[in-house]
Amino acid sequence: MCVAFPSILCRSTTQRAWRCLPHYGKEDPRFLHARKSRCIIMTRNRGFINEMRSNYQIVPFTADHLGAAVELLICDYRREQEESPLLPSEAIDNADRVCDAIKPLLTNPGVAVLQDNQVVAFMLSGYRVPFKGQKAIIVPEYCHASILPDRRELYQIMYMRLASEWVRDHIHLHVIGHFAHNTILWESLYQLGFGAIIAEALRDLSRIQGAHTMDIVEETDIERLLNISIEDSRYYRDSPILIVKETDTDERRTILESSIREGNTYFAFYENDEAGAYLSVGKSASGTLKEGFLLRDTCTAQIKNAFVKPHIRGKGIGKSLLQRAVDWSIEHGYERLFVEFETANYFGGNFWRSHFTPYLYFSMRYVDNTI
Ligand SMILES: CC(C)(COP(=O)(O)OP(=O)(O)OC[C@H]1O[C@@H](n2cnc3c(N)ncnc32)[C@H](O)[C@@H]1OP(=O)(O)O)[C@@H](O)C(=O)NCCC(=O)NCCS
Repeated sequence: MCVAFPSILCRSTTQRAWRCLPHYGKEDPRFLHARKSRCIIMTRNRGFINEMRSNYQIVPFTADHLGAAVELLICDYRREQEESPLLPSEAIDNADRVCDAIKPLLTNPGVAVLQDNQVVAFMLSGYRVPFKGQKAIIVPEYCHASILPDRRELYQIMYMRLASEWVRDHIHLHVIGHFAHNTILWESLYQLGFGAIIAEALRDLSRIQGAHTMDIVEETDIERLLNISIEDSRYYRDSPILIVKETDTDERRTILESSIREGNTYFAFYENDEAGAYLSVGKSASGTLKEGFLLRDTCTAQIKNAFVKPHIRGKGIGKSLLQRAVDWSIEHGYERLFVEFETANYFGGNFWRSHFTPYLYFSMRYVDNTI
């Protein structure tokens, strides 16, 4: 159970969305008060203690901060919902759900920023994963939030504190998931040296513009999908994506088997009895996949793979496959469609951006690994 915390949410009769009044503007009396009383923040650097003047007190994140942190997160989610109305409310209607996701991470390095003893920002290290051939830390979208005023400084001081801990643990690749319309955070991350790598995007189940009726079949025979699945994986190694994916035939077969076992459906376009294009769709973020956390159990379908062989691209096959995925989603009672893609993907990125709207990005920063 999540601790009961004083509500900072209220809804005006003229606004559909919830707004977070005390934290919403610079007129917040606590914010005005805080600007007068500056605190000292201590950071440790190569054995020396640096003093930094700031309005805020930065402390290690503990379970006591959890309730207030979840409230901040819910506020940020509501703000993103105003820009991305397809985001489902189920994700945050039950604060326990978010609490339960954060609780296992409480032992990881994390910080809370306090102002007059109230939590005004937090960031918690998420998962350590091997990524791009080295150790990486991922701070998922549900592991940080802040009040709106002073957001830039709040993120600067939180990242400064946590990055020093990560580097001390020899983690030189830092990834942060953040809402697509949180522009102050986005700019702050950019100034800190981050750049986008992955987008998570949504669309409704309206017709795909320009989709033609093509001969597309549902395919359940893994052997008939194997070659195109291998070609799809090889595509990621090419510039500009440059990501290594499993291309071994047996491994790909196993991946296809488990994907079908998880309930994903494959559609294929054939030319000369060979699959020239395929797409798979299923329940969002099911199985072991980590993407789309906020969409779990929210009536959201997900495109898991899509590939059209180079010589038949640009002829409308991708759009027809996507239309089949939309039809499948309607038939199976889903309310929206989700896709995750590499932002550097020239073909896929441009294709998804013209049919979906990003609500979340993962941004990454490398630092010097000789430190
Ligand atoms: C993304 C992909 C599946 C789209 O399939 P497709 O059959 O090419 O898609 P369509 O022909 O329906 O639409 C492609 C659009 O890009 C445009 N386009 C322009 N130049 C193009 C080119 N050289 N190749 C492909 N499409 C091109 C098309 O005109 C079309 O635009 P429109 O919607 O304004 O008509 C396909 O490009 C592909 O397999 N890419 C590599 C794998 C990949 O990125 N998969 C997604 C992983 S997240």
